[in-house]
Amino acid sequence: MDWGMKNRLSRLIKSDGHCMFLPIDHGYFQGPTRKLEKPGETIKPLVSYADGLFVTRGVLRACVDPANSPPLILRMSGGTSVVGKDLANEAITTSIEEAIRLNVAAVGMSIFIGSDYEHESLVNLGELVNVCEDYGIPVMAVTAVGKELEKRDARYLSLCCRIAAEFGAKVVKTYWCENLDKVVNGCPVPIVMAGGPKCDTELEVFEFVHDGMQKGAIGLNLGRNVWQHDHPVAMMKALRSIIHEDASVKDAQDIFAEEAGA
Ligand code: 5RP
Repeated sequence: MDWGMKNRLSRLIKSDGHCMFLPIDHGYFQGPTRKLEKPGETIKPLVSYADGLFVTRGVLRACVDPANSPPLILRMSGGTSVVGKDLANEAITTSIEEAIRLNVAAVGMSIFIGSDYEHESLVNLGELVNVCEDYGIPVMAVTAVGKELEKRDARYLSLCCRIAAEFGAKVVKTYWCENLDKVVNGCPVPIVMAGGPKCDTELEVFEFVHDGMQKGAIGLNLGRNVWQHDHPVAMMKALRSIIHEDASVKDAQDIFAEEAGA
């Protein structure tokens, strides 16, 4: 692996081999997502706890302080919305020049395996990897399910993650699922977990994150379960303890309770 590629990855994945990314890219198809109406205000207390920020160029320029930013993963795909016909019909919407101009540590894009646009999203991934390899920029593939959240099981996610790795993704973002070890074992590159829609309790979040880490994920790319929570800083601190300090679910709950004053 080239020096630049290694250097960028090491900015995102810490020396313990783990990482905690904070995604705030949801507006690219959801518009002003709840609690992310003003992304700059939402992230202000959180950025110092994030190992990376997954963001579009628009929100980055408008809402993130260039003098106080964690390493960036720039979202490169889009072109659909929640009120449109099919969330899977994405294209590459941002250029490599923009990624370089913004000094990103990595770029990210979604693939939609099993959808009507499977072929297009995979060809887009291959082409993005081609361009990014020239500049030593890692690509994070996002195994997206659109509105079909029920797709998130080990069989389907194993297929998606392996294909993403075969196409050259350096990291794959997928969902936690039962038997995540099957997904991890079939994927030759590191896996980070998304959170999906907000859970009812923080305990549920700590439990699936802890389970996923035990089963071989290297960390998180988790948004709504942090910034839609009433105590987002407490969530960040508690989750970081699982990711970087091998904390138990009980330890994480204690950290959460202390920080939240709960
Ligand atoms: C949205 C994304 C998000 O980055 C990803 O889903 C993680 O966020 P959350 O934890 O809120 O699901 O790719 O398109």
